[in-house]
Amino acid sequence: MTEGVDIYDPNFVKEVFDRCSSRYIGYSYFFSLGFTERWRKQCIAAIPLPDAPLSQGYDLMAGTGESWPHLLKRFPDIHAITAVDISTGMHELAMDRLHQHRTHKIEFIEDDVLASSLPDESADFVVSTFGLKTFTPDQHAQLAALIARILKPGGVFSLIEASDPRGWWARRAYMFHLKVVLPFVESLLLRGAQDFAMIGSYTSNFGDASDFAAMLRNEGLNVEFNKHFFGCATGVAGNKQAG
Ligand SMILES: C[S@@+](CC[C@H](N)C(=O)[O-])C[C@H]1O[C@@H](n2cnc3c(N)ncnc32)[C@H](O)[C@@H]1O
Repeated sequence: MTEGVDIYDPNFVKEVFDRCSSRYIGYSYFFSLGFTERWRKQCIAAIPLPDAPLSQGYDLMAGTGESWPHLLKRFPDIHAITAVDISTGMHELAMDRLHQHRTHKIEFIEDDVLASSLPDESADFVVSTFGLKTFTPDQHAQLAALIARILKPGGVFSLIEASDPRGWWARRAYMFHLKVVLPFVESLLLRGAQDFAMIGSYTSNFGDASDFAAMLRNEGLNVEFNKHFFGCATGVAGNKQAG
């Protein structure tokens, strides 16, 4: 909670990303020194080799669809990606400006993923990049159940999120950079800096993806937890047992 506001309320999150959408890509690339793009690629590379070619699936909290080029490059047989995102701003930017040439392969659902009614066993794959931080542990448990429900038997998944690199010798300096230096630089340079500072708060509250890995295991999925760059990003990847 921040000043009596629930920062994990989906409507609050939607407004943050609607306001940030036009500057989100440049911001995240520049202020992460290109690491966000590298981590998206690593998230897609972590998808386990499926038994059959991937045909259709979901990008949850898809934003502007930054992971689609990597996904379609690694799995050229994919013919349909259903992107789910709550933000109208991110949705419009994705479909109107960034991915016009691939709209035949993309369906965009603008909705709260946890309230959406995605069909059971409808996905060969589920991916998500940087979409975990704006959820509480309860919401993570709902998301884990959703992923287990929508994957087909044998379906594969990979998700990644920026994380707190616990145990890394340079952690204190890194967290100082994230929580103090970046918000200060942003407040000098960026209109709407408080929204980007919110994204920093979500990241530091998140911790890492290890609890989420356990929730996915509880749902019966095979899960590997992985760390990137000393734990500055963590991810989960795995599959649902083939039937
Ligand atoms: C940090 S952005 C990541 C976007 C993109 N996947 C990327 O790699 O850049 C997080 C996205 O999650 C979306 N989001 C947050 N909560 C959501 C929810 N409950 N349902 C659907 N989308 C949500 C936001 O609108 C935002 O676009």
